Amino acid sequence: MSNVIIAVHGGVGKEYTGNVLDRAVDEGFSILKSNGSSLDAVIKSVTILEDDPDFNAGTGSNMRLDGSIEMDAAIATSNGMYGAVAAIQHVKNPVIVARKVAEDTEHVMIVGTGATIFARKEGFMDYDVSTEKARLRYKDAIKQLNESSKHKYMKKFLDTVGAVALDTNGMYSAATSTGGISYMLKGRVGDTPIFGAGIYTNKNGALVATGIGELIIKKLLTKTIYDDINLGDDPDTVIKRHINEFTKDIAVGVLLIYNGNVHNLSNQPMSIRVRSDSF
Ligand code: GLY
Repeated sequence: MSNVIIAVHGGVGKEYTGNVLDRAVDEGFSILKSNGSSLDAVIKSVTILEDDPDFNAGTGSNMRLDGSIEMDAAIATSNGMYGAVAAIQHVKNPVIVARKVAEDTEHVMIVGTGATIFARKEGFMDYDVSTEKARLRYKDAIKQLNESSKHKYMKKFLDTVGAVALDTNGMYSAATSTGGISYMLKGRVGDTPIFGAGIYTNKNGALVATGIGELIIKKLLTKTIYDDINLGDDPDTVIKRHINEFTKDIAVGVLLIYNGNVHNLSNQPMSIRVRSDSF
């Protein structure tokens, strides 16, 4: 008997009430049900979220303090594949470029101008991901920044998107994509593309994280959680222990599949959709 499962999230910080998250999980799930790979499934789900302006990834990404948009994305599988882009500009689907890094180069991550040049060489067209919503949010961020003497993370927006899946061949995959946090300097890279921080896969599972990337990187959150669970600790207890290390004002959430079961926890609202089947 085969067990297939996919779980998709739309970021931490605010409940998502639309129906695009359901479409994203359903389309990934139909790939799994027709014996497709978990990698194809998570990439499909994440591209749907990247294409929807309500999510802070691809179209709809946050603007940096200079008004530019730079995006991070990654893919990974339990078969040892990992590819990422960071601070890439003007592409519609950074997560597909991340896959190309893994498939078409000897590298694992390409950043900045190099990532955008690589995307063009791979045939990705110039694409404007900016939206009116992002411009308004940017204006608001600059106003708040000018009024305050201290840099503070803004809390009320949907963050990184991500997906994890298990296919009929027993392969786990994960995919992540983000427009980053606000406020954010040009060139800043968060946890989303970093293996062991915002994304992690190993023999028994796939994990993605969302939230304020700096702290997720310092804690190597997804790898640490995986290692603790793999030692035999109860997954939900492990996740709780690690999430509780973040103060409530620092948004963080994790979503994972371990040994065929989905687990998740966040310290602020986080919308998740799951589909699974055995056949
Ligand atoms: N988790 C998204 C970021 O920090 O960039």
